Amino acid sequence: ILRPFQFDWKSSKEFSKRHTKITIVGVGNVGMAIAQTILTQDLVDELVLVDTNANKLEGEKLDLQHAAAFLPRVQIQADTDFKITHHSDLCIITAGARQNPGESRLDLLQRNLNIFKSIVPTLVRESPECLLLVVSNPVDVLTYIAWKLSGFSPNRVFGSGTNLDSSRFRFLLADYLDVNAQEVQAYMVGEHGDSSVALWSSISVGGVPILSFVTNKSEEFEQQVLEKIRKKVVESAYEVIRLKGYTSWAIGYSVANLARSLLRDQRSIQPVSLLSKGFYGIGDDVEVFLSLPAMLGRSGVVSVAQIQLTDEEKNRLQNSAKTLWEIQQQLLI
Ligand code: NAI
Ligand code: LAC
Repeated sequence: ILRPFQFDWKSSKEFSKRHTKITIVGVGNVGMAIAQTILTQDLVDELVLVDTNANKLEGEKLDLQHAAAFLPRVQIQADTDFKITHHSDLCIITAGARQNPGESRLDLLQRNLNIFKSIVPTLVRESPECLLLVVSNPVDVLTYIAWKLSGFSPNRVFGSGTNLDSSRFRFLLADYLDVNAQEVQAYMVGEHGDSSVALWSSISVGGVPILSFVTNKSEEFEQQVLEKIRKKVVESAYEVIRLKGYTSWAIGYSVANLARSLLRDQRSIQPVSLLSKGFYGIGDDVEVFLSLPAMLGRSGVVSVAQIQLTDEEKNRLQNSAKTLWEIQQQLLI
């Protein structure tokens, strides 16, 4: 159909400086929400899907390929064999059990630990220079496990962490203040989930620190509203899981947003689950992964923002670290 214009052409990969390959392990609700968002945002040249469920895997691959007329040109591959992931730039792990209504994220640990023991060594053998982004829950402990199993330097292994919680936080604050959520800078840090910490002191709206905004109104009322918003963030996942059985769209956008920052070397600052030992009073021997606002680039976590925490915020962070450290010390990795 198309006559080659010249005869000494090279493959496009040799010409293009950036041939980005992303692997997603797990093509369930979350994996496919991430895949769809990454494709729509034109973040990848080659997308690889891996799962143990061969039929679902093939079906999801074909279904995405059928959208080719509406997407930038991209290679979409799928296989149950990890060899297909060879030389990936970013590997995103969403494989594993998800919470049933009423279950906590930590309840998933034993099931997903065993899955990680089978996935991570194979993944890193095929892509020894990749960035490893963990999404499966409990994401902070599983990111620690992925780091241990990978042997990678800690800047290349991180979890989606409270990037999702912070998005929920910004939505609720924006809704209350009737402003665009993208004008609200607000972080939830620490554990992704039940003990996540709202950094009130660093919230700003259009550059105006919210606490100064709050003190201009009846402070008591405002403090109650802010605490109500924090509680609603922590309860968000349980509410959505009760209503639709799982969460997917927000985590899909959240992880695609991280993929952009990483692979396009954006140097944006976002809360991700990273090796937090030595930060904010967490002991140098406490190897836990918790979310802190970090600068992300092509090499992974480039730096960690030194935000001012109140004593209460520091204590909450240290308590989360203690809880996760105690859990991790029971694990056989
Ligand atoms: P799902 O059940 O829809 O999909 C899980 C997929 O993993 C299935 O397709 C299954 O075949 C696959 N899988 C299982 N073992 C595997 C293995 N050894 N190798 C490759 N694939 C394997 O579950 P869903 O809803 O996609 O959730 C996935 C995980 O993501 C859960 O742990 C969930 O808790 C977590 N999650 C994390 C969020 C976060 O903010 N960190 C947000 C939402 C979900
Ligand atoms: C969430 C859970 C599933 O925050 O981790 O959506």
